[in-house]
Amino acid sequence: METALKSGTNQSKESPVIVIEHLYKQFGDNIVLSDFSLSLRKEENLVVLGKSGSGKSVLVKCVVGLIRPDRGSIRILGKDLLGLEEDELNELRTKLGFLFQSNALYDSMTIRENLEFPLLKHQVKISEAEMEARVMEVLENVGLEHTIDMMPSELSGGMAKRIALARAMILRPDIIFYDEPTSGLDPVTSREIASLILEMKEKYHISSIIISHDMACVKITADRIVLLLEGKCYAQGTYAELEQSKDEKIRQFFK
Ligand SMILES: Nc1ncnc2c1ncn2[C@@H]1O[C@H](COP(=O)(O)OP(=O)(O)O)[C@@H](O)[C@H]1O
Ligand SMILES: [Mg+2]
Repeated sequence: METALKSGTNQSKESPVIVIEHLYKQFGDNIVLSDFSLSLRKEENLVVLGKSGSGKSVLVKCVVGLIRPDRGSIRILGKDLLGLEEDELNELRTKLGFLFQSNALYDSMTIRENLEFPLLKHQVKISEAEMEARVMEVLENVGLEHTIDMMPSELSGGMAKRIALARAMILRPDIIFYDEPTSGLDPVTSREIASLILEMKEKYHISSIIISHDMACVKITADRIVLLLEGKCYAQGTYAELEQSKDEKIRQFFK
C-alpha cells in the first residue's frame, strides 16, 4: 500500500504540467509556429528564448487560451486546453498567473484594488481578513507593503513590475507565465526582478514559462532554455550547455 502510494506521488511529480505538441499558428501568409513542441516540468523555470517577432508572445497566448492555434495539442495540468468549455477554461485560469510585458495594472485602481481584483473576478470564497492577509503576503514577497494605498502612476517601472508579479501570485497559481519580465528596466532592477522570479519558484514550488532575451535574466532564472526559431523548438538545454554551443544560431544570443 505504502509503496503504491509513494510511486503514485513520484509519478505525479514527474509528469509535466504543460505538454505542447505539434503546434501550428499562422496569420495570413505569416507562419509563426510550425510544429512547435515543448513540455514544462513541475517546479521548473523554463525560458523560451527567441528574437523579436519570432512568435514568443503568440506561443504564450496560445497556451493561456487567448489565441486559438490552427493545429496541435496543449495539455495543462492534465486538461486538454483546446477541448475546454468557457467555464472550464475560467476554472483552469485560476491556476495560472500572468505577468504581461505591459504589466496591465488598472490605472484607476489603488495597488490594493489591483491585487484584490483577481480574487473578486474569480469569486474566490475567502473572508475579508483572509483577503487582507493574501494582499499583504504578496506585497511582502515583493517588498512593497508601503505602496498598498498608492496608485500605479506613482510607481517606478521596477515597482510596477513587482506589483504585477504580486498580482500574478495572488491566486496562488501552479504555473506563471512571464512575458519579457525585465524589458525596459535598468540592469540592476532587471537582476532584482529575475532574482524575485527565482525566489517565488523556490518558495511556492511554482512552474514557470519565462519569455526573455535578456541574457542576464535568463542566466539567473533558467533551469532550462528552449530556443524558438522559425516556428520550432530549435535547441534546448541549460544556460551552460547552450552557451558552449558552436552553432551560430545559438551563439548569437550569448554574444
Ligand atoms: N493577432 C495577430 N494578428 C496577426 N499577426 C500577429 C498577431 N499577433 C502576432 N502576430 C505576428 O506574429 C509574429 C510573432 O509575434 P510575437 O509572438 O508577438 O513575437 P515576439 O517573439 O516578439 O513576442 C509577428 O510577425 C507578429 O506580427
Ligand atoms: Mg513578445
